[in-house]
Amino acid sequence: MSEPMKYETIKIEKENGITWLILNRPEKRNAMSPQLHAECNNALYNLATDPETQVLILTGAGDAYCAGQDLKLFFRGTEGKPRERFEAAENSHTWRWQRLSRFPKPTIAMVNGFCFGGGFVHMIACDLAVAADEATFGLSEVNWGIIPGGSVSWNVADVLNFRNAMYYAMTGDPFSGKIAAQIGLVNYSVPGASLRDETIKLANKLKEKNPMTLRYTKEAIRSVRGMNEMQATDYLNAKTDALRLRDPEKGRDTALAQFVDEKLFRPGLGNYVRDKK
Ligand code: COA
Repeated sequence: MSEPMKYETIKIEKENGITWLILNRPEKRNAMSPQLHAECNNALYNLATDPETQVLILTGAGDAYCAGQDLKLFFRGTEGKPRERFEAAENSHTWRWQRLSRFPKPTIAMVNGFCFGGGFVHMIACDLAVAADEATFGLSEVNWGIIPGGSVSWNVADVLNFRNAMYYAMTGDPFSGKIAAQIGLVNYSVPGASLRDETIKLANKLKEKNPMTLRYTKEAIRSVRGMNEMQATDYLNAKTDALRLRDPEKGRDTALAQFVDEKLFRPGLGNYVRDKK
């Protein structure tokens, strides 16, 4: 697991602190095969500690983001092969939810086109999501006689309100990037022609922040959702102390001095000056 593999179904591109993880089966609309799951699992394991990766953007090659599980290779191809089925399912869940939702750097899903079924899991696992207005989303499972399985129903029920989760899961109706933004499935949508630039703009905004603070912030928001008030305040107090201890930039102390003593910045309007040299 630890050594990077030679990838055939995904591409990794790095530029200016941004790492692009690109699902690369455009001829199959980036449907997820067992091989793609194994490669994504390996890639995320290695990128987690890659110093060049400040922000991770997940997207698809060609016109599609991800057409869900590969019906032929993931489902039919592993029928009657318990070992292969187990391995594919393990890899599938591990990268799409566990590795991605716990990735130590900020993650953005850039939904450039078709996003169906199992593609929702990694799209929702990312911290943020930006879609092309023209992208097509759909919980198509009902159209072919299955439920949104794996963790899809759980992810969708978590991120959408009850009526929208029910509506799109029960009808299977496809919907656009604009609708995805209206119902809060993605942060916003933009015309497809400017999707890449707008996503890079968002990534660059994140790159300006203190990385350790960002990591602790995303962990905190995710973790408190399952806690009661007492657990959350206790956890957040401990997390606050841990950040002060572990932050190599000592951001809090620097920022306090810059605001209170030096009158150098206003936290309400922007970030402290991270490198004064
Ligand atoms: N699994 C396996 N193969 C898939 C696939 C999937 N989920 N989605 C697309 N493909 C394959 C098609 O079989 C076709 O292969 P072929 O060229 O060997 O015939 C190729 O990708 C192109 O697909 P096609 O349907 O011709 O493209 P399109 O642009 O007209 O339509 C979609 C794109 C995504 C709307 C359509 O392919 C589709 O509905 N896919 C299934 C989506 C889905 O329900 N996913 C949920 C799975 S849980």
